[in-house]
Amino acid sequence: MSTEFACDQETGLPVFQNEQCWYGRDLQQSPEWVYELSGREQLEVRDAVANAIERNVDLVSMTTADFALGSFGVRLVEIGREIKHGRGFALIRGLNTLGLTLQEQACAFRGIGAHFGEAVSQNAKGHVLGHVANLGLDYSDPTTRGYQTPAELRFHTDAADIVGLMCIQRARSGGLSRIASSTTVWNEAVRHRPDLAAELTKTYCFTRWGEERPGQRPFFQIPPFRQHRERMVAVFIAGAIEKAQALPGVAPLTRQQREAIALVNELAGDDEIRLDMEFRPGDMQFLLNHGILHARTAYEDFPEPDKRRHLLRLWLACPDGPALPDYMTTEFQGRTASGRPDGIHLPGVELKANLFPD
Ligand SMILES: [Fe+2]
Repeated sequence: MSTEFACDQETGLPVFQNEQCWYGRDLQQSPEWVYELSGREQLEVRDAVANAIERNVDLVSMTTADFALGSFGVRLVEIGREIKHGRGFALIRGLNTLGLTLQEQACAFRGIGAHFGEAVSQNAKGHVLGHVANLGLDYSDPTTRGYQTPAELRFHTDAADIVGLMCIQRARSGGLSRIASSTTVWNEAVRHRPDLAAELTKTYCFTRWGEERPGQRPFFQIPPFRQHRERMVAVFIAGAIEKAQALPGVAPLTRQQREAIALVNELAGDDEIRLDMEFRPGDMQFLLNHGILHARTAYEDFPEPDKRRHLLRLWLACPDGPALPDYMTTEFQGRTASGRPDGIHLPGVELKANLFPD
C-alpha cells in the first residue's frame, strides 16, 4: 500500500496522495467497491446463520469462530483490508435472495461484521445492534440523535473504527446514502481555503448527547482533522459541535470555525467528490469512520408502521485497524481491551442486541 503525503509548499499543510483519496465521480463509473455474493457464498452465509441460531449464539459476544465461512471468509479478509487500509468502504450485496427472517438477517450481519471487528456499544443503553429508523422523536431535542429521525443527515463520522449498516426495509422515498473520502475533502480544503483547513486542525467541543459517563464532562474536545503518521484521521460531527454550543463551559464558535464546518459539508457533497449509494434490502455497507464521511438524504416512510425504513447498524472495533492519535481513546471514546475506540460504553451498562428498536 502506498501511503504518501507531501506538504503544500505555500501553507505547510499536508496533502495526501494515497488509496484513501478517491473521487466519487471515478468510483461511480467502476463500482469495484460492490461485492456481489456468488451463489456458493450465499449458501455459506445461510449455513453459518442456521448453525449459529441452532447453537443459540449470543449476538453480543459473537466472534468469527461462531460464524465460520469457507471461501467467503477468505474474501472477507480482503474486503476488511480494503475498508481498514484501502479506500475505506465496501458494499456487500446479494443476501436478499435467501429469504431470511429478521433474526436470520441480524445474525448474518453480525456474523459478517465479526470478521471485521468486535461489536461495541452505540449508545448509553448498551446497544451493539443498532436500529436506524424513524422513532418519532424530535430532532431539536438536545438528546435526540439523527439516526432516530427521518431528517436529512449532513456529512459526519460515527464513533468506533467501522460503522456497518444493513438494509432491512427501504423508505417510500428518499434515504439515499452519501459518502465521501475525508482525506479528499481535506486535500481540497487545503487547495481552496488553506486558512479554513488550518482551522479544522484545532480543537472543537462536541456534545456527548447526554450520554456521558459519571464524572465526565458533557462534551469532548478534539480536532476534526489531524494527521497521524502517514494518513489523515477525521472526526467530524457538525451536529454535535453545534449542539455543544448550548452547554456551559463551551466557548462560542468563531466565524472562521463556522465557515470551516460549512466548507467540509460543501466539499463532501460536491458532485465530483461524493459517492451516492441506493440501498437495496439485504445490502450491507461498511465504512471506516476515520477516513469516510457519511450523509443521508431526508426520507418519507410508508404510512404502515411495519413498512417503515429500517436499517440495522453495527459499530466495530478493529484490532488490525489503522494507527490512531491517543485522543481517540482518551478524550473521544474509551478503549477496548485490544486498545481500540470503544463507542459509547457506560460503566455497568450491560451490552444487548435487540431485534427491534426500544
Ligand atoms: Fe452516522
